[in-house]
Amino acid sequence: MSKFVTEREMEFQRECMKRVAARNNGQTAFVDTYGCQQNEADSERMSGMLTEMGYVLCNSDDADVVIINTCAVRENAENRVFGVIGRLVHAKRRNPSQIIILAGCMGGEASVREKIKKSYRHVDAVLDTTSFWRLPELILGLLEGDERAAEINTVGGVVEPDSRIAEGMPVSRLYPHKAWVSIMYGCNNFCSYCIVPYLRGRERSRNSEDILKEIREVVADGCKDITLLGQNVNSYGEMTGEGLDFADLLAKVAEVDGDFLIRFMTSHPKDTSKKLLDTMASNPKIARHLHLPVQSGSDRILKIMNRRYNAESYMELINYAKKVMPDIVLTSDIIVGFPGETEQDFEQTLKLVSEVEYDSLFTFIYSKREGTPAAEMEDPTTPEEKSDRFNRLIELQNAISLKKHKEYVGKTLRALVDGEGRQGDHNLSARTNGGRLIHLSGDKSLIGEFVPVHITQATTWSLVGEIDKGLMNGVRK
Ligand code: SAH
Ligand code: SF4
Ligand code: F3S
Repeated sequence: MSKFVTEREMEFQRECMKRVAARNNGQTAFVDTYGCQQNEADSERMSGMLTEMGYVLCNSDDADVVIINTCAVRENAENRVFGVIGRLVHAKRRNPSQIIILAGCMGGEASVREKIKKSYRHVDAVLDTTSFWRLPELILGLLEGDERAAEINTVGGVVEPDSRIAEGMPVSRLYPHKAWVSIMYGCNNFCSYCIVPYLRGRERSRNSEDILKEIREVVADGCKDITLLGQNVNSYGEMTGEGLDFADLLAKVAEVDGDFLIRFMTSHPKDTSKKLLDTMASNPKIARHLHLPVQSGSDRILKIMNRRYNAESYMELINYAKKVMPDIVLTSDIIVGFPGETEQDFEQTLKLVSEVEYDSLFTFIYSKREGTPAAEMEDPTTPEEKSDRFNRLIELQNAISLKKHKEYVGKTLRALVDGEGRQGDHNLSARTNGGRLIHLSGDKSLIGEFVPVHITQATTWSLVGEIDKGLMNGVRK
């Protein structure tokens, strides 16, 4: 069974929020987010707590409270964060009572905590992802010069693997029509290159009732695009004791009344079931998009990565998904230059990418993470060879993306207008059901609405379209 933060502990946090609010008069807070959707979701909770504490949210390094929500997945992500933190020293000089907190995945690394304590003394505290629900207690402590703040700052923090789920935190969502809903936390997979399981602890699933309650709330608030989040959503429910798996949960979410689309990420191929694909196929509220990270097309590399599937079983899933959903949008993550990857291994990756024909890919050059098994492996491939492979992969994928995008031209699709555009004459952006980006023109009041869009042009990265005014009345109720 998953373990939960007790109501008494949450009550204590609420009390801390009230006490901070009582001494607050228009102070500001800035939550600066790096990394993946999990971090964005955590930031929305931290913003919710800061709002309850009376802070006015802003986008400035000069805010009274600055929280840097960090990512540790690759070295350059970390370096970027150290650059940002370094620059904050000037803001702190201008406002010595400013509170600076490093939160997120880097907060769970012992080496980062040491480095912050030693070389970035203007940072007041470090919070890891499993304890960010204690933010109110931390801020109150820092304001009052309480020893407890120093305790959160220096003790523990390096992730308790068996950490608990906190329910009932306030949330301040960044977009009215788009919501992240975490359904589980942590990861048990220990892919040999990846640091996430060390920083987010063991897998734990929220109870379905808590999830459904949140979904009903966001739908009632007018949200149209809901993404269920977890490092490995397919193993949802293994610990809740409810007997519901991820496909069952998705079906229940889709039963909630309202006009909205459900997305989810991330799926692990070893746990992706045909039942899940059938559930997607039979339910129009579930977006026709499957992000199924393959990492490599070489069975030898997949084994050393500890991924626990092979190219054949992966292709079987892809082919089944295409069979039951011919319009499925497929995306993936690939790591190039894993330790010991040979030219032959890499060619297997190219072969798989050609076979699948992904709509788009997230490609990464392997980055060594201390403490992971891959960091100990021989890595004779030169950086030049790695970047040559990386470029070849991108070139192949770009050609496939362009081809796939051109297939949309001339079609009319239902799309969700999701923001103001930044592309030439087009003032709005929208997303297709499968998540492809469309640039279009129209009234700003359409943001957050589903509209029919006639696709007129395609590039490697996006589509261009026009709102089909004739169909509009039929689509917009
Ligand atoms: N849980 C998700 C996402 C993990 S992080 C999943 O399993 O897919 C997102 C992506 O970052 C991974 O899919 C992987 O492609 C990449 N990644 C993780 N560790 C990496 C490393 N050490 N070097 C390069 N890329 C890495
Ligand atoms: Fe990392 Fe693998 Fe877990 Fe994804 S499934 S977070 S890649 S260990
Ligand atoms: Fe980065 Fe943490 Fe997400 S390491 S990718 S922010 S889980």
